Amino acid sequence: MSRFTKLMLAFLAIIILLSATFSGVAAFVIGDRVLAEAANRVESDLNAAEEMYAANAGTLYDQVRLSANHFYLRDALRAGQPEQAFGELLVTMNDEDLDFLTVTDGGGTVLLRAGNAWVVGDSQAGDPVVAAALQTGLPAVGSAVFDEARLSLEAAGLAERARLELVETRGAPEADETVETTGLMLVAAAPVVGYAGEAIGVLYGGRLLNGRFEIVDKIRDTLFRGVQYEGTDIGTATLFLDDLRISTNVLSDDGSRAVGTRVSEEVYQQVILGGERYLGRAYVVNDWYLTGYDPLRSIDGSVVGMIYVGLLERPYNDLKTRSTLLFIGITLGGVALATALSIVISRRLSTPVRALVKASRRVAEGDLEARVAVNTHDEIAELAGAFNRMAAALAARDEQLKEFARKRIMQSERLAVVGQLAADVAHELNNPLQGIVTYSHLLLERMPADDPQRKSVDKIAVQAARCATIIRALLDFSRPKKPQKKTANLCAVIEECFSLVEDRALFHNIEVVRDYTDCLPEVVIDPAQMQQVFLNLIMNAAEAMGGVGRLTVSTHFDVEREMVQVTLGDTGHGIREEDLGRIFDPFFTTKEVGHGTGLGLAISFGIIKEHGGTIVVESQIGVGTTFTIELPLGGAEEAGS
Ligand SMILES: Nc1ncnc2c1ncn2[C@@H]1O[C@H](COP(=O)(O)OP(=O)(O)OP(=O)(O)O)[C@@H](O)[C@H]1O
Ligand SMILES: [Mg+2]
Repeated sequence: MSRFTKLMLAFLAIIILLSATFSGVAAFVIGDRVLAEAANRVESDLNAAEEMYAANAGTLYDQVRLSANHFYLRDALRAGQPEQAFGELLVTMNDEDLDFLTVTDGGGTVLLRAGNAWVVGDSQAGDPVVAAALQTGLPAVGSAVFDEARLSLEAAGLAERARLELVETRGAPEADETVETTGLMLVAAAPVVGYAGEAIGVLYGGRLLNGRFEIVDKIRDTLFRGVQYEGTDIGTATLFLDDLRISTNVLSDDGSRAVGTRVSEEVYQQVILGGERYLGRAYVVNDWYLTGYDPLRSIDGSVVGMIYVGLLERPYNDLKTRSTLLFIGITLGGVALATALSIVISRRLSTPVRALVKASRRVAEGDLEARVAVNTHDEIAELAGAFNRMAAALAARDEQLKEFARKRIMQSERLAVVGQLAADVAHELNNPLQGIVTYSHLLLERMPADDPQRKSVDKIAVQAARCATIIRALLDFSRPKKPQKKTANLCAVIEECFSLVEDRALFHNIEVVRDYTDCLPEVVIDPAQMQQVFLNLIMNAAEAMGGVGRLTVSTHFDVEREMVQVTLGDTGHGIREEDLGRIFDPFFTTKEVGHGTGLGLAISFGIIKEHGGTIVVESQIGVGTTFTIELPLGGAEEAGS
């Protein structure tokens, strides 16, 4: 897994976690908020429904009060002939849509019934509404429950209208009857007042609420304005007689009004038995509703039934589900988008990095022509640019090195050829030269001392000797002799060299400073070859100083490395920087033609190498030059070279 993939996966995980949390919380909050709103609405709807029920009672109150004040009723009662009012009373009952309208005398004994003509003489003084009107002399109104006998009494056919078949209801307590015969009534009573203001009777009338749907439908239409959800009214209202639905617009499964069904146990306990308002979720007939129930009380305060409004819970649950699904959708969409984006970004990021990796592998494998294409303007592009420059620099260095090596090889090949040629020439010239030297000496021996030619022959002898020296050096260089090693004292070898040269005029003005370490051990060397080396170095120094200056010789023993060190420092003209690398080359000389072969240092280098040692030079123009020779204590074999 690449670094980018890991990075992208980490980002994705964060995005998924965040959006899932956000979605979950949002869906929960929205769902909760909406349900809370709905519950609030139910509470205010319940209050409004109660208002409407009270308004209905108010209307009844007015109807009965106004009818009681009619002169025809007063006159009939005063005349002691209530039956004279029957016709008017019947018209009033029908016009006002009352289910019964009854007149009593001032003591509560029935004088006339519009709903049940000629059944009179019973006392209704025990009816709480009638009693209230009689006692206070003012109209009274209230909910009431009439049993079957009372219903039959007040109006013909009223008991039949009130009769309800009970329907088995899920969640409701077991019913012990199958038929309801009592009726929930809204009744009002008003005193009929004589001309002196005395109560001469009571008019009371009312409506049976069983099976009467105006009130509940009005509540529903006013509060919910006929809004439906998937074919079901979103809001419903019901009037209960005790726990029984007697007037409702909640529908059963078959689409009929669910009259005859009963309320759930929980609501029954709280509202009917406890007399308290109920707000909350409730299972109503066949669906879940957010509901509100309030007790309906008779005039004496006892609970006779309930009024209910409910909001279908389904739309809210669906909303919650839908918003949750929407958020999940958004989350998934976001994740998909993030994934796609991260893939694109990681490709864009990783492609140039991969190209870089590939190119650096090629460079590592030796292909210095490898380059990375750059087509962006970011840090990776900078890196790629730096890489390309580095590769180019490497290629240039490589080319330089190759060129250098080529030159070196050519040079050494040339040197080998020249060296061989020189050796051959030297060999060929050696014999004739020996002849010239020998015969020029013979000539000189036999010549009289005053011979005018003698000077010329002498020159021949000197120059020939010089040539012989050069030839010998050439031969020494081209065919180096195997060193004859033995244990020797290096200081003694150096001293011998000095004793050989010190008498020469060149050394008269040179101060030789000796700084020999006392305990310099003996070394395994070829003393003759080593003498050649030091002689050469001493002569070079003297020549560089032009015969005036100081030559310092010091020795040192490096105990740890078991190496003997000899340093020869002069105060001569020094060596130019560009010549430093060439002074050990054969035939390199800065001396005038005929004054140096340029072989001295080349031969010395060969001898030191043969001894397993090293020779290095340090020089500063105008200050002087120092040569340092290091030799292993035990000679080349022991030093392992
Ligand atoms: N001590 C020194 N100070 C300054 N230059 C030096 C010194 N030693 C050597 N050189 C330089 O190095 C060159 C090479 O020295 P090398 O001994 O090989 O040859 P040479 O002295 O020129 O000739 P030859 O040794 O055959 O007489 C010299 O020509 C000189 O330029
Ligand atoms: Mg020399």
